[in-house]
Amino acid sequence: MSPTPRRKIIIDTDPGQDDAVAILLALASPELDVLGITCVAGNVPLALTAKNARIVCELAGKPETRVFAGCDAPMKRKLVTAEHVHGKTGLDGIALPDPVMPLQDQHAVDFLIETLREEPEGSVTLCPVGPLTNVATAMMKAPDIVPRIAEIVLMGGAYFAVGNITPAAEFNIYVDPQAAEIVFKSGVPLVVMPLDVTHKALTTRSRVEAFRGLGTRVGHAVASWTDFFERFDMAKYGSEGAPLHDPCVIAYLLDPSLFSGRHINVEVETEGRFTTGMTVADWWRVSRREPNAMFIGEIDADRFYALLIERICRL
Ligand code: RIB
Ligand code: CA
Repeated sequence: MSPTPRRKIIIDTDPGQDDAVAILLALASPELDVLGITCVAGNVPLALTAKNARIVCELAGKPETRVFAGCDAPMKRKLVTAEHVHGKTGLDGIALPDPVMPLQDQHAVDFLIETLREEPEGSVTLCPVGPLTNVATAMMKAPDIVPRIAEIVLMGGAYFAVGNITPAAEFNIYVDPQAAEIVFKSGVPLVVMPLDVTHKALTTRSRVEAFRGLGTRVGHAVASWTDFFERFDMAKYGSEGAPLHDPCVIAYLLDPSLFSGRHINVEVETEGRFTTGMTVADWWRVSRREPNAMFIGEIDADRFYALLIERICRL
């Protein structure tokens, strides 16, 4: 029996410790064919996200991975970054060597367009785990690619969990709400991992020690990153760990049974004085607006971390 074909994906990212774990999970999983990693300004400025993505690829022992730099600012708003969460480098928690592998010359937006035009229609899944500037810019520059995208599985938004950068908005959507509106209105099949679900995937002590207990360089890095990354959320929420946001996207590709949610209408607020960047999720279907996203609300956290450990230990 011929092996199941590997799923072609492009990860669009703003590393960030949780982005880094998502990239490691993807690179450790033979089911996935990472066509490229496109970097965007978000947690830290673009120069750092493009550097950090390569640091992570080299840590994974995959220096042949193609990494592209994309947009250095949101479509219409001034860039807002999150050094208060991720530290000055964006990967605070452990000092890793500067990357040797090159950054690709091509702009990330052009890579997205070219790849979606060249690969068979409906064969490429986009996995944005940062602000949606690159993806939306590609859609605006080349509308013909939109129907060619198989699915977009993204980390962003919030409803019951409300905001983390403002009282109403989650960071990835808040940084570039115009880009998010373009993506949510694109008609591409969407799976959304909001704070509602990522806040149920906490880096508890035992889970962090399980990474450290792998006794590998990668396991030590992941534990060190989560040690650093969790201090902000634990102080803010009084939780017993930090939400490991971005790996939820990759875990969904590997085992969707880990998650559950509802196919509902989700709109992005772009003009609210207090609510800009809010994802208005019609969880109770009261608006009669057309459903456009599978909005995930639940995760089997123990099985999620078991998958993470099982994969990370392969690197
Ligand atoms: O709000 C959480 C999201 O913002 C995550 O993707 C994190 O990496 C930051 O980009
Ligand atoms: Ca991110």
